[in-house]
Amino acid sequence: MEVYEAILAKRDRRSYDLSRQVPGDIVDRLLQAGRMAGSSKNEQPIRAIVLTDSEIKASLSRCADYSDHLPTSPLVIVLVRVEGSRAFDAGRVAQNIMLAASGLGLDSCPVGVQHDGCARSVLGLPDDWIVAMAITLGYPTADADDRARSGERRIAKSDWVKWNQWS
Ligand SMILES: Cc1cc2nc3c(=O)[nH]c(=O)nc-3n(C[C@H](O)[C@H](O)[C@H](O)COP(=O)(O)O)c2cc1C
Repeated sequence: MEVYEAILAKRDRRSYDLSRQVPGDIVDRLLQAGRMAGSSKNEQPIRAIVLTDSEIKASLSRCADYSDHLPTSPLVIVLVRVEGSRAFDAGRVAQNIMLAASGLGLDSCPVGVQHDGCARSVLGLPDDWIVAMAITLGYPTADADDRARSGERRIAKSDWVKWNQWS
């Protein structure tokens, strides 16, 4: 898929084909896409924790308020960042992973993890690391709703962009 098309077509989807696991070589490619994201001063403050264990997925889901689909997602990648780092760095890694996933035929959705203490305990994080974002991934279902892929859920471009000054 061409990069520009992949960017425009990317929608966050939470239902996956539960009969298909994500093969290890594909997981490796997703992680490599995330690892290659640039960071401020090349400090590389992000690490990825790959969840394949269903009990850990279920436990992490209890640390997040909008994560009903997390326990059943075939693959979950949690991005953690060192304390004091910029959330923007995690955003770059997340979008790299999700766009690479689109190119490999996978759907994905970012999931905010609101209860940091809970998540830190589930993931066994060292004191100076915090959870930035979880990403659920899996192959699309056969009856995936393609209407979600249209641009109708976005602010009109005329309202979204300003030129030179706000007004
Ligand atoms: C920072 C961030 C946090 C998000 N957290 C959640 C979440 O906790 N649960 C969820 O189901 N979707 C979450 N989303 C996905 C948004 O709901 C989604 O990006 C938005 O509704 C647009 O979806 P669309 O691209 O399919 O139109 C999150 C997205 C972002 C960027």
